[in-house]
Amino acid sequence: MKITVVGAGHVGATAAQRIAEKKLATEVVLVDIVDGIPQGKALDMWESAPIEGFDAKVIGTNTYEATEGSSVVVVTAGLARKPGMSRDDLRDKNAGIIQSVSEQIAKYSPQTKIILVTNPLDVMTYVAFKTTGFESNRVFGQAGILDTARYRTFLSMETGISVRDIQAMVLGGHGDDMVPLLRYTTVAGIPITQMVSKDRLDEIVQRTRQGGGEIVKYLKTGSAYYAPSAAAVEMVEAVVTDAKRLLPCSAWLTGEFGISDTYAGVPVILGKDGVEKIVEIDLNDEEKAMLHESANHVKENIAALNL
Ligand code: NAI
Ligand code: 2OP
Repeated sequence: MKITVVGAGHVGATAAQRIAEKKLATEVVLVDIVDGIPQGKALDMWESAPIEGFDAKVIGTNTYEATEGSSVVVVTAGLARKPGMSRDDLRDKNAGIIQSVSEQIAKYSPQTKIILVTNPLDVMTYVAFKTTGFESNRVFGQAGILDTARYRTFLSMETGISVRDIQAMVLGGHGDDMVPLLRYTTVAGIPITQMVSKDRLDEIVQRTRQGGGEIVKYLKTGSAYYAPSAAAVEMVEAVVTDAKRLLPCSAWLTGEFGISDTYAGVPVILGKDGVEKIVEIDLNDEEKAMLHESANHVKENIAALNL
């Protein structure tokens, strides 16, 4: 089992390390355009194997030959946000990067599944889908798991209850108009509205929507990577173990929830074939309207692409 991570920056390198440490692959390949960075980080990671107890080879490279035949490719290549920038500000620069990366992935790993991380996430997932020509179940994006993890963390902070007992789902595009589903948020099955006041819930939803920006403000020179890499690797794990997890992921929509011709975050079943099913949960009018607004924002950005 070979897993490739493209982009050896903050998210990519941390994802590669998590993949090796979780023993999800026999070979982890880290690719970046900067000479020496993937090679140095990969060797450093491999040298942690005797301590961490994993057997995977970790290979760093600036070209794609070593990625040949990868089962899964995680794409994190591109620019990250700086303070004052929205994810959409990254669109045109990162689209060119994702196009060239996708061509190489399709050439060397024509059977692979691709998990996009680069922002603006839903738009970049579309660029990879169009460039590779792969079936849509094999090209999907990470955002909802991260957004949901942030939401669950804030709810745990608020209630003092373990994050493990807080179930929730955040849908929509990976932008400030993402859609946390209050109606489906429970603490061990108990509706969250019985535990947290409406005013506080509204504040927590707002903090979740701006969760990425909150970290950018602290870091100043980049964006979050511990939680994002954990989220991407949860998807890798679901695919390589054929776990049939139900997770919010960015998937290509062809009429589900009344939305077509765009990527957006929806509940999916993730297994060995990638997105094996989109699960059309029941949404009320308000939730549907929010999901449509968020998906329309992604669509506008796809239309504005300058490829
Ligand atoms: P970073 O700047 O630390 O790393 C990006 C890496 O991509 C750099 O090492 C750079 O050399 C490399 N790169 C640039 N062009 C490349 C190419 N053509 N081929 C291979 N490598 C190339 O950035 P970081 O923090 O790792 O973030 C990466 C991307 O992920 C950003 O676009 C960021 O906005 C996005 N992101 C998305 C999240 C999500 O939830 N979907 C969460 C966090 C970050
Ligand atoms: C995040 O949500 C920047 O999209 C990235 O942290």
